[in-house]
Amino acid sequence: MHSTEERLNGTGATGPDAGRAPGDPASGAVDRIEVAGASKVYPNGTVALTPVDLTVRDGEFVSLLGPSGCGKSTLLRIIAGLIDPSEGGVSINGDAQRAFVFQDPTLLPWRTVDSNARLLLELENIPRAERDARVAEALEMVGLAGFEKSYPRGLSGGMRMRLSLARALALRPELFLMDEPFSALDEITREVMQAELLRIWQESGFTSVFVTHNLYEAVFLSHRVVVMSPRPGRIERIFEIPFAYPRTEELRSDPEFMRLSQEISDCLREVSQ
Ligand SMILES: Nc1ncnc2c1ncn2[C@@H]1O[C@H](COP(=O)(O)OP(=O)(O)O)[C@@H](O)[C@H]1O
Ligand SMILES: [Mg+2]
Repeated sequence: MHSTEERLNGTGATGPDAGRAPGDPASGAVDRIEVAGASKVYPNGTVALTPVDLTVRDGEFVSLLGPSGCGKSTLLRIIAGLIDPSEGGVSINGDAQRAFVFQDPTLLPWRTVDSNARLLLELENIPRAERDARVAEALEMVGLAGFEKSYPRGLSGGMRMRLSLARALALRPELFLMDEPFSALDEITREVMQAELLRIWQESGFTSVFVTHNLYEAVFLSHRVVVMSPRPGRIERIFEIPFAYPRTEELRSDPEFMRLSQEISDCLREVSQ
């Protein structure tokens, strides 16, 4: 019996080597992301991140959890290659196609659903026929088939987020980086979107790094939950989430799910003091 968590000893996290069940997207996988000693001091002197080590395996679902301002977005942006760390580095195994989704769906109001979904493919100069196929597939995947000619203003918050996901999925990413994508949604829609995201992830097999400040969301979705401490941000502890995929709604009321959530909640409260 191995422990369901791993504690960091200050010199760095090790990748999980607990065996995954067959059918698990991360089963037997190689390392995909390696963050080594990455820190960030912004030009105004804010120390957002003290040196962080984190390894994410191919196909794994990892969440970064912590209070507002603890450096979650900074770490995600470093992994995404959107900003450079002040020290240390990140290596991505293979030239993995990356896609991002943020809290704000950032849709273009003058474009239809279909036209919004193909935006990134146009920027990547994907040929027309290929674009059509990929957009149709992505819209189908998020449940927006039939809404191609609608405009964003006619969509609910949940549907806008679906469209934002579809636009990113059309890239067929190997690495999917999400920064609080469901934070603006109501609780019910949010839970529906979590289940949808897991289904899409299992179908597509991408590696996910997901930022959230909602611990139940993190536990429901992830193989591992990385708890970060407030500024200057660092990794406090990494919890291994042992539940098999596919995960169902019943998991949310499972006693073990609640026990683990409570343990993570206690950890968050401790680090916030
Ligand atoms: N561009 C920036 N310049 C200066 N400080 C920043 C910048 N971006 C973020 N910060 C600061 O760095 C810290 C971590 O921010 P962030 O990574 O956005 O945290 P989180 O996503 O956990 O809320 C915060 O104190 C924030 O104010
Ligand atoms: Mg943030």
